[in-house]
Amino acid sequence: MAKDGQELRSKAKDHVVFPVVSPQEVSKMGPLVFTRGEGIYVWDVDGKRYMDSMASGVYAVHVGYGRKEIAKAMGEQASRLHYFCPYGYISEPVIKLGEKLAELAPGDLSMTFFTCDGSEAVESAFKIAKQWAYHQGYRRKYKIISRRRAYHGSTMGALAATGTMSPLRKIMEPLPPGYRFASAPYCYRCDFGLSYPDCALQCADSVEQIILHQGPDNVAAFIGEMVMAAGGCIVPPPEYWPRIREICSKHGVLLIDDEVVCGFGRTGKFFGVEHYGIKPDIMTMAKCLTSGYSPLGATITKPEIIRDMPAFWHVHTYNNHPVSCTAAIENIRIIEEENLVQNSAEVGKYLLEGLRSFSNHPSVGDVRGLGLLTAIEFVKDKSTKERFPEDQAFCGRIMDLALDEGVILRRVEDIIEFCPPLIITKSEVDEMIEITDRAITQAEKEFGLQHN
Ligand SMILES: Cc1ncc(COP(=O)(O)O)c(C=O)c1O
Repeated sequence: MAKDGQELRSKAKDHVVFPVVSPQEVSKMGPLVFTRGEGIYVWDVDGKRYMDSMASGVYAVHVGYGRKEIAKAMGEQASRLHYFCPYGYISEPVIKLGEKLAELAPGDLSMTFFTCDGSEAVESAFKIAKQWAYHQGYRRKYKIISRRRAYHGSTMGALAATGTMSPLRKIMEPLPPGYRFASAPYCYRCDFGLSYPDCALQCADSVEQIILHQGPDNVAAFIGEMVMAAGGCIVPPPEYWPRIREICSKHGVLLIDDEVVCGFGRTGKFFGVEHYGIKPDIMTMAKCLTSGYSPLGATITKPEIIRDMPAFWHVHTYNNHPVSCTAAIENIRIIEEENLVQNSAEVGKYLLEGLRSFSNHPSVGDVRGLGLLTAIEFVKDKSTKERFPEDQAFCGRIMDLALDEGVILRRVEDIIEFCPPLIITKSEVDEMIEITDRAITQAEKEFGLQHN
Protein backbone atom coordinates (compact mmCIF):
# COMPACT_ATOMS: atom_id res chain seq x y z
CA MET A 1 0.00 0.00 0.00
CA ALA A 2 2.67 2.50 1.11
CA LYS A 3 4.63 1.94 -2.13
CA ASP A 4 1.47 2.59 -4.21
CA GLY A 5 0.89 5.74 -2.19
CA GLN A 6 4.37 7.07 -2.85
CA GLU A 7 4.15 6.26 -6.55
CA LEU A 8 0.77 7.98 -6.87
CA ARG A 9 1.93 11.05 -4.95
CA SER A 10 4.97 11.37 -7.16
CA LYS A 11 2.92 10.96 -10.38
CA ALA A 12 0.40 13.54 -9.14
CA LYS A 13 3.22 16.06 -8.66
CA ASP A 14 4.63 15.28 -12.10
CA HIS A 15 1.41 15.38 -14.10
CA VAL A 16 -1.30 17.40 -12.39
CA VAL A 17 -1.59 21.18 -12.01
CA PHE A 18 -3.12 21.91 -8.61
CA PRO A 19 -5.35 24.97 -8.24
CA VAL A 20 -4.17 27.72 -5.83
CA VAL A 21 -1.55 25.57 -4.07
CA SER A 22 2.16 25.99 -4.79
CA PRO A 23 4.28 22.95 -5.82
CA GLN A 24 6.13 23.37 -2.47
CA GLU A 25 2.88 23.16 -0.52
CA VAL A 26 1.78 20.18 -2.62
CA SER A 27 5.04 18.42 -1.71
CA LYS A 28 4.56 19.26 1.96
CA MET A 29 1.00 17.91 1.91
CA GLY A 30 2.02 14.76 0.11
CA PRO A 31 -0.37 15.40 -1.66
CA LEU A 32 -2.97 13.35 0.17
CA VAL A 33 -4.35 10.82 -2.30
CA PHE A 34 -7.87 9.84 -1.26
CA THR A 35 -9.36 6.55 -2.36
CA ARG A 36 -12.75 6.35 -0.68
CA GLY A 37 -15.22 8.09 1.61
CA GLU A 38 -18.06 7.13 3.91
CA GLY A 39 -20.22 9.47 5.99
CA ILE A 40 -18.02 12.39 7.12
CA TYR A 41 -14.76 10.44 6.72
CA VAL A 42 -12.32 9.91 3.83
CA TRP A 43 -9.45 7.42 3.60
CA ASP A 44 -6.11 7.99 1.91
CA VAL A 45 -4.23 5.51 -0.23
CA ASP A 46 -2.23 4.40 2.81
CA GLY A 47 -5.42 3.50 4.67
CA LYS A 48 -5.40 6.46 7.11
CA ARG A 49 -8.84 7.83 8.03
CA TYR A 50 -9.57 11.57 8.15
CA MET A 51 -12.56 13.47 9.49
CA ASP A 52 -13.73 16.13 7.02
CA SER A 53 -14.45 19.34 8.92
CA MET A 54 -15.04 21.38 5.77
CA ALA A 55 -17.43 19.29 3.65
CA SER A 56 -14.59 18.43 1.22
CA GLY A 57 -12.54 21.53 1.98
CA VAL A 58 -14.89 23.76 -0.01
CA TYR A 59 -18.28 23.43 1.73
CA ALA A 60 -19.67 21.07 -0.90
CA VAL A 61 -20.52 17.63 0.47
CA HIS A 62 -23.77 18.06 2.41
CA VAL A 63 -25.06 14.47 2.35
CA GLY A 64 -21.67 12.89 3.07
CA TYR A 65 -19.50 10.44 1.17
CA GLY A 66 -20.43 7.05 -0.28
CA ARG A 67 -24.08 7.71 -1.15
CA LYS A 68 -24.81 4.73 -3.37
CA GLU A 69 -28.33 5.95 -4.20
CA ILE A 70 -26.92 9.05 -5.94
CA ALA A 71 -24.32 6.99 -7.82
CA LYS A 72 -27.02 4.51 -8.91
CA ALA A 73 -29.40 7.22 -10.18
CA MET A 74 -26.54 8.90 -12.09
CA GLY A 75 -25.46 5.59 -13.62
CA GLU A 76 -29.00 4.81 -14.75
CA GLN A 77 -29.39 8.26 -16.33
CA ALA A 78 -25.97 7.99 -18.01
CA SER A 79 -26.89 4.68 -19.61
CA ARG A 80 -30.35 5.95 -20.65
CA LEU A 81 -29.31 9.38 -22.04
CA HIS A 82 -26.07 10.92 -20.84
CA TYR A 83 -26.18 14.20 -22.80
CA PHE A 84 -27.66 16.20 -25.64
CA CYS A 85 -26.96 19.78 -26.69
CA PRO A 86 -28.90 22.35 -24.62
CA TYR A 87 -29.95 24.81 -27.36
CA GLY A 88 -33.67 24.20 -27.48
CA TYR A 89 -33.46 20.50 -26.59
CA ILE A 90 -33.93 19.23 -23.07
CA SER A 91 -34.23 16.03 -21.04
CA GLU A 92 -36.52 15.03 -18.19
CA PRO A 93 -34.17 15.41 -15.18
CA VAL A 94 -33.46 19.04 -16.15
CA ILE A 95 -37.18 19.88 -16.23
CA LYS A 96 -37.75 18.01 -12.97
CA LEU A 97 -34.91 19.86 -11.21
CA GLY A 98 -36.06 23.23 -12.57
CA GLU A 99 -39.51 22.56 -11.14
CA LYS A 100 -38.07 21.48 -7.77
CA LEU A 101 -35.86 24.56 -7.46
CA ALA A 102 -38.84 26.80 -8.25
CA GLU A 103 -40.71 25.10 -5.37
CA LEU A 104 -37.80 25.61 -2.95
CA ALA A 105 -36.61 29.09 -3.90
CA PRO A 106 -38.01 32.19 -2.17
CA GLY A 107 -40.52 34.60 -3.74
CA ASP A 108 -41.22 34.19 -7.42
CA LEU A 109 -37.80 32.85 -8.43
CA SER A 110 -38.82 30.10 -10.83
CA MET A 111 -36.70 30.16 -14.02
CA THR A 112 -33.34 28.40 -13.83
CA PHE A 113 -30.28 28.51 -16.07
CA PHE A 114 -28.05 25.47 -15.34
CA THR A 115 -24.25 25.70 -15.52
CA CYS A 116 -21.32 23.51 -14.49
CA ASP A 117 -20.19 25.29 -11.31
CA GLY A 118 -20.54 28.29 -9.05
CA SER A 119 -18.32 30.68 -11.00
CA GLU A 120 -20.39 30.06 -14.13
CA ALA A 121 -23.59 30.52 -12.12
CA VAL A 122 -22.30 33.92 -10.95
CA GLU A 123 -21.21 34.87 -14.50
CA SER A 124 -24.68 33.93 -15.69
CA ALA A 125 -26.29 36.05 -12.96
CA PHE A 126 -24.27 39.09 -14.10
CA LYS A 127 -25.17 38.46 -17.73
CA ILE A 128 -28.85 38.10 -16.86
CA ALA A 129 -28.69 41.41 -14.95
CA LYS A 130 -26.88 43.19 -17.78
CA GLN A 131 -29.18 41.81 -20.45
CA TRP A 132 -32.23 42.69 -18.35
CA ALA A 133 -30.98 46.29 -18.11
CA TYR A 134 -30.28 46.39 -21.86
CA HIS A 135 -33.81 45.31 -22.75
CA GLN A 136 -35.19 47.87 -20.28
CA GLY A 137 -33.62 50.46 -22.56
CA TYR A 138 -30.51 51.20 -20.49
CA ARG A 139 -27.25 51.08 -22.43
CA ARG A 140 -24.86 51.86 -19.57
CA LYS A 141 -26.50 50.00 -16.68
CA TYR A 142 -23.73 47.42 -16.48
CA LYS A 143 -21.90 48.01 -13.19
CA ILE A 144 -21.87 45.44 -10.42
CA ILE A 145 -21.41 46.18 -6.73
CA SER A 146 -19.82 43.57 -4.51
CA ARG A 147 -18.08 43.75 -1.12
CA ARG A 148 -14.53 43.64 0.13
CA ARG A 149 -13.59 40.12 1.34
CA ALA A 150 -16.24 38.55 -0.94
CA TYR A 151 -15.42 35.47 -3.00
CA HIS A 152 -17.68 34.81 -5.99
CA GLY A 153 -15.56 32.62 -8.26
CA SER A 154 -12.56 32.37 -10.54
CA THR A 155 -13.81 33.06 -14.07
CA MET A 156 -13.01 36.61 -15.15
CA GLY A 157 -16.42 38.21 -14.39
CA ALA A 158 -16.89 36.33 -11.10
CA LEU A 159 -13.29 37.12 -10.16
CA ALA A 160 -13.85 40.80 -10.89
CA ALA A 161 -16.56 40.69 -8.18
CA THR A 162 -14.16 39.03 -5.76
CA GLY A 163 -13.08 41.56 -3.18
CA THR A 164 -9.68 40.30 -2.19
CA MET A 165 -6.29 41.28 -3.52
CA SER A 166 -4.87 37.77 -3.22
CA PRO A 167 -2.73 36.55 -6.17
CA LEU A 168 -5.89 34.91 -7.47
CA ARG A 169 -7.07 38.37 -8.49
CA LYS A 170 -3.95 40.54 -8.56
CA ILE A 171 -2.07 38.48 -11.14
CA MET A 172 -5.09 38.27 -13.46
CA GLU A 173 -5.64 42.02 -13.71
CA PRO A 174 -6.86 43.83 -15.70
CA LEU A 175 -10.27 42.29 -15.06
CA PRO A 176 -13.55 43.36 -16.72
CA PRO A 177 -14.36 46.98 -15.80
CA GLY A 178 -17.36 48.26 -13.84
CA TYR A 179 -17.03 46.45 -10.50
CA ARG A 180 -17.18 48.43 -7.23
CA PHE A 181 -16.73 47.28 -3.64
CA ALA A 182 -18.62 48.21 -0.49
CA SER A 183 -17.58 47.37 3.08
CA ALA A 184 -18.30 43.90 4.40
CA PRO A 185 -20.54 43.61 7.49
CA TYR A 186 -17.48 42.40 9.40
CA CYS A 187 -18.40 43.47 12.93
CA TYR A 188 -15.23 42.04 14.55
CA ARG A 189 -13.10 44.33 12.37
CA CYS A 190 -15.46 47.10 11.28
CA ASP A 191 -14.10 49.29 8.42
CA PHE A 192 -15.63 52.29 10.15
CA GLY A 193 -14.22 51.45 13.61
CA LEU A 194 -17.80 51.25 14.94
CA SER A 195 -19.72 48.69 16.99
CA TYR A 196 -23.12 47.18 16.32
CA PRO A 197 -25.83 48.41 16.98
CA ASP A 198 -24.48 51.96 17.48
CA CYS A 199 -22.97 51.80 13.98
CA ALA A 200 -26.46 52.25 12.45
CA LEU A 201 -25.30 49.83 9.71
CA GLN A 202 -22.85 52.12 7.94
CA CYS A 203 -21.66 49.10 5.94
CA ALA A 204 -25.13 48.73 4.36
CA ASP A 205 -25.40 52.46 3.77
CA SER A 206 -22.04 52.40 1.98
CA VAL A 207 -23.77 50.37 -0.75
CA GLU A 208 -26.23 53.21 -1.32
CA GLN A 209 -23.42 55.75 -1.42
CA ILE A 210 -21.69 53.76 -4.17
CA ILE A 211 -24.93 53.46 -6.18
CA LEU A 212 -25.51 57.21 -5.90
CA HIS A 213 -21.92 57.98 -6.79
CA GLN A 214 -22.00 55.74 -9.86
CA GLY A 215 -25.54 56.84 -10.77
CA PRO A 216 -28.40 54.30 -10.42
CA ASP A 217 -28.81 54.17 -14.21
CA ASN A 218 -25.29 52.75 -14.44
CA VAL A 219 -25.61 49.99 -11.83
CA ALA A 220 -27.14 46.66 -12.86
CA ALA A 221 -26.80 44.59 -9.69
CA PHE A 222 -25.49 44.09 -6.18
CA ILE A 223 -24.12 40.64 -5.30
CA GLY A 224 -23.56 39.13 -1.87
CA GLU A 225 -23.65 35.95 0.18
CA MET A 226 -26.08 36.03 3.10
CA VAL A 227 -23.20 34.82 5.30
CA MET A 228 -19.78 35.46 3.75
CA ALA A 229 -18.14 32.03 3.72
CA ALA A 230 -14.69 32.18 2.12
CA GLY A 231 -14.51 35.80 3.33
CA GLY A 232 -14.12 34.40 6.86
CA CYS A 233 -17.60 33.32 7.99
CA ILE A 234 -19.07 36.79 8.39
CA VAL A 235 -22.63 36.78 9.74
CA PRO A 236 -24.32 40.17 9.24
CA PRO A 237 -26.67 41.72 11.84
CA PRO A 238 -30.39 40.93 11.29
CA GLU A 239 -31.21 44.37 9.79
CA TYR A 240 -28.39 44.30 7.23
CA TRP A 241 -30.06 42.39 4.39
CA PRO A 242 -33.49 44.07 4.72
CA ARG A 243 -31.63 47.41 4.44
CA ILE A 244 -29.73 46.24 1.35
CA ARG A 245 -33.00 44.99 -0.21
CA GLU A 246 -34.57 48.39 0.41
CA ILE A 247 -31.60 50.23 -1.15
CA CYS A 248 -31.56 47.98 -4.25
CA SER A 249 -35.33 48.31 -4.79
CA LYS A 250 -35.21 52.09 -4.31
CA HIS A 251 -32.56 52.50 -7.04
CA GLY A 252 -33.68 49.83 -9.53
CA VAL A 253 -30.63 47.62 -8.86
CA LEU A 254 -31.08 43.84 -8.97
CA LEU A 255 -30.16 41.94 -5.82
CA ILE A 256 -28.17 38.76 -6.50
CA ASP A 257 -28.05 36.36 -3.57
CA ASP A 258 -25.04 34.04 -3.98
CA GLU A 259 -26.13 30.80 -2.27
CA VAL A 260 -23.28 28.70 -3.66
CA VAL A 261 -22.17 27.97 -0.08
CA CYS A 262 -25.16 29.04 2.06
CA GLY A 263 -27.75 27.04 0.10
CA PHE A 264 -29.27 23.64 0.79
CA GLY A 265 -29.16 23.83 4.59
CA ARG A 266 -25.63 25.01 5.32
CA THR A 267 -26.80 27.83 7.66
CA GLY A 268 -29.66 25.89 9.27
CA LYS A 269 -32.37 27.06 6.84
CA PHE A 270 -32.85 25.71 3.33
CA PHE A 271 -31.43 28.93 1.88
CA GLY A 272 -29.40 31.48 3.84
CA VAL A 273 -31.79 34.22 2.68
CA GLU A 274 -34.57 32.71 4.84
CA HIS A 275 -32.81 34.04 7.96
CA TYR A 276 -33.31 37.59 6.73
CA GLY A 277 -36.84 37.41 5.28
CA ILE A 278 -36.02 39.15 2.01
CA LYS A 279 -36.62 38.17 -1.62
CA PRO A 280 -33.69 38.40 -4.03
CA ASP A 281 -34.10 39.00 -7.78
CA ILE A 282 -31.56 36.37 -8.78
CA MET A 283 -30.02 33.52 -6.80
CA THR A 284 -26.95 31.42 -7.60
CA MET A 285 -26.31 27.84 -6.44
CA ALA A 286 -23.67 25.14 -6.98
CA LYS A 287 -21.49 22.91 -4.73
CA CYS A 288 -24.12 21.51 -2.32
CA LEU A 289 -26.70 21.41 -5.14
CA THR A 290 -25.26 17.95 -5.92
CA SER A 291 -23.07 17.55 -2.80
CA GLY A 292 -20.20 17.29 -5.27
CA TYR A 293 -21.42 14.03 -6.84
CA SER A 294 -21.41 15.78 -10.22
CA PRO A 295 -20.46 19.32 -11.31
CA LEU A 296 -23.49 21.60 -11.48
CA GLY A 297 -24.36 25.24 -10.94
CA ALA A 298 -27.67 27.05 -11.25
CA THR A 299 -28.91 30.63 -11.57
CA ILE A 300 -32.56 31.13 -10.77
CA THR A 301 -34.51 34.30 -11.45
CA LYS A 302 -38.01 35.73 -11.87
CA PRO A 303 -40.03 35.28 -15.06
CA GLU A 304 -40.38 39.07 -15.37
CA ILE A 305 -36.60 39.44 -15.65
CA ILE A 306 -36.31 36.85 -18.41
CA ARG A 307 -39.60 37.79 -20.14
CA ASP A 308 -38.36 40.78 -22.13
CA MET A 309 -35.28 39.01 -23.51
CA PRO A 310 -35.65 37.72 -27.08
CA ALA A 311 -33.09 35.08 -26.00
CA PHE A 312 -30.54 34.83 -23.17
CA TRP A 313 -27.22 35.35 -24.97
CA HIS A 314 -24.96 33.05 -22.99
CA VAL A 315 -24.13 29.37 -23.52
CA HIS A 316 -21.90 26.49 -22.45
CA THR A 317 -21.83 23.05 -24.05
CA TYR A 318 -22.71 21.45 -20.73
CA ASN A 319 -25.64 23.66 -19.70
CA ASN A 320 -28.58 21.47 -18.58
CA HIS A 321 -26.54 18.30 -18.07
CA PRO A 322 -28.94 15.38 -17.44
CA VAL A 323 -26.58 13.30 -15.27
CA SER A 324 -25.67 16.26 -13.02
CA CYS A 325 -29.35 17.25 -12.71
CA THR A 326 -30.14 13.65 -11.69
CA ALA A 327 -27.45 13.86 -8.98
CA ALA A 328 -29.03 17.11 -7.72
CA ILE A 329 -32.53 15.59 -7.59
CA GLU A 330 -31.28 12.66 -5.48
CA ASN A 331 -29.18 14.94 -3.30
CA ILE A 332 -32.17 17.20 -2.55
CA ARG A 333 -34.34 14.14 -1.85
CA ILE A 334 -31.81 12.97 0.77
CA ILE A 335 -31.54 16.45 2.34
CA GLU A 336 -35.32 16.55 2.69
CA GLU A 337 -35.93 12.93 3.77
CA GLU A 338 -33.16 12.93 6.37
CA ASN A 339 -34.07 16.39 7.75
CA LEU A 340 -30.54 17.61 7.17
CA VAL A 341 -31.53 21.28 7.30
CA GLN A 342 -32.82 20.75 10.82
CA ASN A 343 -29.70 18.77 11.70
CA SER A 344 -27.59 21.66 10.45
CA ALA A 345 -29.49 24.06 12.75
CA GLU A 346 -29.31 21.78 15.82
CA VAL A 347 -25.83 20.34 15.48
CA GLY A 348 -24.58 23.73 14.23
CA LYS A 349 -25.73 25.31 17.52
CA TYR A 350 -23.98 22.54 19.45
CA LEU A 351 -20.80 23.03 17.39
CA LEU A 352 -20.86 26.80 17.96
CA GLU A 353 -21.23 26.27 21.72
CA GLY A 354 -18.26 23.88 21.59
CA LEU A 355 -16.15 26.44 19.72
CA ARG A 356 -17.22 29.17 22.17
CA SER A 357 -15.80 27.05 24.97
CA PHE A 358 -12.38 27.82 23.40
CA SER A 359 -12.77 31.49 24.30
CA ASN A 360 -10.31 31.25 27.19
CA HIS A 361 -7.53 30.27 24.77
CA PRO A 362 -5.17 33.28 24.46
CA SER A 363 -5.23 33.07 20.65
CA VAL A 364 -9.01 32.85 20.14
CA GLY A 365 -10.20 36.33 19.17
CA ASP A 366 -13.70 35.66 17.88
CA VAL A 367 -16.05 32.70 17.44
CA ARG A 368 -18.98 33.08 15.06
CA GLY A 369 -21.34 31.18 12.81
CA LEU A 370 -24.82 30.22 11.69
CA GLY A 371 -25.94 26.61 11.33
CA LEU A 372 -23.00 24.48 10.23
CA LEU A 373 -21.07 27.47 8.89
CA THR A 374 -18.83 28.36 11.82
CA ALA A 375 -15.36 29.76 12.46
CA ILE A 376 -12.72 30.83 14.93
CA GLU A 377 -10.64 33.94 14.23
CA PHE A 378 -7.22 33.67 15.83
CA VAL A 379 -5.21 36.69 16.98
CA LYS A 380 -1.75 37.28 18.35
CA ASP A 381 -3.11 39.70 20.94
CA LYS A 382 -6.70 39.49 22.11
CA SER A 383 -6.93 42.99 23.57
CA THR A 384 -5.68 44.76 20.41
CA LYS A 385 -6.92 42.12 17.88
CA GLU A 386 -3.39 42.19 16.41
CA ARG A 387 -2.99 39.60 13.67
CA PHE A 388 -0.14 37.09 13.50
CA PRO A 389 2.60 38.19 11.09
CA GLU A 390 2.11 36.37 7.77
CA ASP A 391 5.35 34.41 8.12
CA GLN A 392 4.32 33.08 11.52
CA ALA A 393 2.10 30.29 10.33
CA PHE A 394 0.12 29.87 13.55
CA CYS A 395 -3.05 28.50 11.95
CA GLY A 396 -0.98 26.37 9.60
CA ARG A 397 0.57 24.75 12.66
CA ILE A 398 -2.88 24.08 14.17
CA MET A 399 -3.92 22.48 10.89
CA ASP A 400 -0.80 20.26 10.74
CA LEU A 401 -1.31 19.08 14.32
CA ALA A 402 -5.00 18.31 13.69
CA LEU A 403 -4.13 16.51 10.45
CA ASP A 404 -1.72 14.24 12.34
CA GLU A 405 -4.67 13.26 14.51
CA GLY A 406 -6.89 12.68 11.47
CA VAL A 407 -8.91 15.91 11.21
CA ILE A 408 -8.75 18.01 8.05
CA LEU A 409 -9.17 21.74 8.79
CA ARG A 410 -9.28 24.70 6.42
CA ARG A 411 -8.34 28.29 6.96
CA VAL A 412 -8.79 31.73 5.46
CA GLU A 413 -5.98 34.00 6.71
CA ASP A 414 -6.04 33.48 10.51
CA ILE A 415 -9.58 32.15 10.50
CA ILE A 416 -10.27 28.42 10.73
CA GLU A 417 -13.71 27.44 9.51
CA PHE A 418 -15.68 24.41 10.66
CA CYS A 419 -18.27 23.49 8.04
CA PRO A 420 -18.68 19.71 8.07
CA PRO A 421 -21.16 17.69 6.01
CA LEU A 422 -24.72 18.26 7.24
CA ILE A 423 -25.02 14.62 8.37
CA ILE A 424 -22.53 15.16 11.22
CA THR A 425 -23.62 13.94 14.66
CA LYS A 426 -22.99 15.54 18.06
CA SER A 427 -20.52 12.79 19.02
CA GLU A 428 -18.56 13.42 15.81
CA VAL A 429 -18.55 17.13 16.70
CA ASP A 430 -17.13 16.19 20.12
CA GLU A 431 -14.28 14.30 18.42
CA MET A 432 -13.55 17.28 16.13
CA ILE A 433 -13.62 19.71 19.07
CA GLU A 434 -11.32 17.60 21.26
CA ILE A 435 -8.70 17.20 18.54
CA THR A 436 -8.86 20.88 17.58
CA ASP A 437 -8.57 21.94 21.23
CA ARG A 438 -5.40 19.85 21.65
CA ALA A 439 -3.96 21.29 18.43
CA ILE A 440 -4.65 24.90 19.53
CA THR A 441 -3.11 24.30 22.99
CA GLN A 442 0.02 22.79 21.46
CA ALA A 443 0.39 25.57 18.84
CA GLU A 444 -0.02 28.23 21.55
CA LYS A 445 2.71 26.56 23.59
CA GLU A 446 5.05 26.51 20.57
CA PHE A 447 4.30 30.18 19.77
CA GLY A 448 4.77 31.26 23.39
CA LEU A 449 1.16 32.32 24.01
CA GLN A 450 0.27 31.98 27.68
CA HIS A 451 -3.05 31.02 29.25
CA ASN A 452 -4.07 33.52 31.96
C1 LIG B 1 -19.91 32.20 -2.57
C2 LIG B 1 -19.25 31.53 -3.74
N1 LIG B 1 -19.68 31.83 -4.98
C3 LIG B 1 -19.13 31.26 -6.07
C4 LIG B 1 -18.10 30.36 -5.94
C5 LIG B 1 -17.49 29.74 -7.15
O1 LIG B 1 -17.88 28.40 -7.24
P1 LIG B 1 -17.01 27.34 -8.08
O2 LIG B 1 -15.74 27.14 -7.31
O3 LIG B 1 -17.90 26.13 -8.11
O4 LIG B 1 -16.78 27.91 -9.41
C6 LIG B 1 -17.63 30.01 -4.67
C7 LIG B 1 -16.55 29.03 -4.49
O5 LIG B 1 -16.03 28.80 -3.42
C8 LIG B 1 -18.22 30.63 -3.53
O6 LIG B 1 -17.77 30.36 -2.29
